[in-house]
Amino acid sequence: MTDINGVRILEFSQLGDARGHLVVAEGGRDIPFNIKRVFYIYGSDQNVVRGKHANRKTEFVLINVAGTSKIKVKDGEGNEAVYHLDRPHIGIYLPTMVWKDMYDFSSDSVLLVLASEHYDADEYIRSYDDFIKEIRNAMQ
Ligand code: TYD
Repeated sequence: MTDINGVRILEFSQLGDARGHLVVAEGGRDIPFNIKRVFYIYGSDQNVVRGKHANRKTEFVLINVAGTSKIKVKDGEGNEAVYHLDRPHIGIYLPTMVWKDMYDFSSDSVLLVLASEHYDADEYIRSYDDFIKEIRNAMQ
């Protein structure tokens, strides 16, 4: 799979026992940043595409704690990769300045998102053209 600017799959410790499953993801340890914000996405139809943005400041880890979804990541230089989130102990790390689409949600999908920053609408790039321009400017 194409390497997209440090995007990577994370595998968390599974501490389950006879009583059931328990997965741990500690900020600054399993998660490569300190967690300032948590949100979760559920009830999205299978034909919905969410995300469609890049972030100038925020890093994310996405975990399908229930159900499944796919994440398409683009680096703005022509490379893209698709990751399948299909197990509760697997996450995907997304650094800043990658374009991301979340799609193909199963009906039981609960996509947990851990973020390194508080919400700031101004650090979101929601136009793909603007994203490409910022990537090109950064390379000059
Ligand atoms: P949006 O970024 O479009 O969601 P997604 O990444 O799943 O496509 O967010 C939907 C709305 O929620 C939008 O109006 C912004 C708001 N929002 C917040 O106020 N705080 C947050 O932390 C997030 C992620 C979204």
